[in-house]
Amino acid sequence: MDELEKLRKHWEDDNFQRKHALAREIVVNRLRELNREYEEKTGQGFVRFIETRMKTPESIAEKLQRKDYDVDFDTAVTALNDISGVRCICYSVKEIYWIARQIGKTDTYTVVKAKDYIRKPKKNGYESYHIVLDIPMSYKGKTTVVRVELQLRTMIMDAWAGMDNRVSYKKGVPPEMERRIEKYARIGRRLDKLIQKTLDDSKTV
Ligand code: GTP
Ligand code: MG
Repeated sequence: MDELEKLRKHWEDDNFQRKHALAREIVVNRLRELNREYEEKTGQGFVRFIETRMKTPESIAEKLQRKDYDVDFDTAVTALNDISGVRCICYSVKEIYWIARQIGKTDTYTVVKAKDYIRKPKKNGYESYHIVLDIPMSYKGKTTVVRVELQLRTMIMDAWAGMDNRVSYKKGVPPEMERRIEKYARIGRRLDKLIQKTLDDSKTV
């Protein structure tokens, strides 16, 4: 059996899938709770929509190879942060920083690390706020930790990332195309600022 086949077999394990689904649900519930808090505070929630996903064995194998790791289940669960992913699409940048400040204020999980690609976008223009969480899960008297990567994006950042994902991410494109994509990210940042101002102004008119 080749390495990818073995990964696929592990992925079919119900307990593994269930454990990850529950861990993602914990993060989604925390976001919903914070959303209610934010709504009480400001009159409006920050959630435009929330997505969750489990990385596929194919994508796991690709990432392990790319990072020069062994392609096997144990390496995947220890070395990768984003086997389980939750993405929260917000309306504005201010909301994202509010969530980032609040998300760790709980005993349910621990914050492993945060990467602020908004303050410092990637070279290609990518913007998002990534937070890696370790969630202790108890099952049949045994506790294991499930890692979940939470991505916080504005709707503009998400639209750009969707385009980038189709056109260029993990593919490599000609320089002319790279420049275009990076330029659109800058336009996106401008639009996010305009949207922020309009949302702020709308509270006072
Ligand atoms: P880890 O720390 O192991 O997660 O390494 P990593 O290089 O995957 O981390 P990073 O936080 O940079 O990226 C993780 C996820 O962010 C990816 O799986 C994508 O969902 C998203 N992402 C990162 N960079 C880009 C990008 O340039 N374009 C797009 N469209 N998405 C990106
Ligand atoms: Mg990551």
